[in-house]
Amino acid sequence: MLAKDFHIPFDFENRRAIIINRLLYIPKYYDKHSDFKDKIIFENDNKVQVEYCSGNGEWIINKAIKNPNINYIAVEMRFDRARKIWVDMHNQQIKNLFVILGEALIFTKYYLEEKSIGDIYVNFPDPWPKKKHSKNRLIKDEFLIELARVMKKKRSITIVTDHKIYLEQIIEVFFQNKDFQPAFKKPYFIEDQKDFGSSFFKRIFSEKGKSINYLKFIR
Ligand SMILES: C[S@@+](CC[C@H](N)C(=O)[O-])C[C@H]1O[C@@H](n2cnc3c(N)ncnc32)[C@H](O)[C@@H]1O
Repeated sequence: MLAKDFHIPFDFENRRAIIINRLLYIPKYYDKHSDFKDKIIFENDNKVQVEYCSGNGEWIINKAIKNPNINYIAVEMRFDRARKIWVDMHNQQIKNLFVILGEALIFTKYYLEEKSIGDIYVNFPDPWPKKKHSKNRLIKDEFLIELARVMKKKRSITIVTDHKIYLEQIIEVFFQNKDFQPAFKKPYFIEDQKDFGSSFFKRIFSEKGKSINYLKFIR
């Protein structure tokens, strides 16, 4: 499978959500989500875990290979990155992975069923460091409300970040939501999570000597 094998089979005017060979494409600037009648289907009923902001997919591809008894969903809104995950998934014949080319909140709100998801991971969400851009951060109350809806009880969400200001804001947002409890004691994050797996951005930040922080909250 090559990048050129991935086609969206309609033009912008006729855009719609569609599953193309185990990739769900959710168009940008689109609001007819209720028109989508298809389903994300795996070969079995194993538990489903989601990674948001998957980037080039390194972390989730390794997880899917290591844990064939877990079904994974990779969510990435950049076309080239989601397509790379899709190409790698097919070339490596990874059957327990599904790719979403779409925005995280929209996917969660309109395409995931209530109490259908187990553990959730977000590796290095964009920190939007400038104050005027901070509203673009993914981890906000509206997103947590949707996560609480789709997650099964007692499952966890792990967020990994090198960014201290975003880290503090994430803690604040979770504390304002009654559906989640911190898994770690004050200061509510740890700097070392053995066997967690690596990603492109984790390597970059580790090589720069930045501390990598793991936050975990239980639904
Ligand atoms: C800093 S990169 C981290 C990539 C990868 N997790 C890693 O650790 O190498 C953040 C990624 O999240 C994606 N992203 C940011 N906001 C998103 C959103 N709201 N929905 C889906 N993907 C998003 C970006 O396109 C980018 O690929």
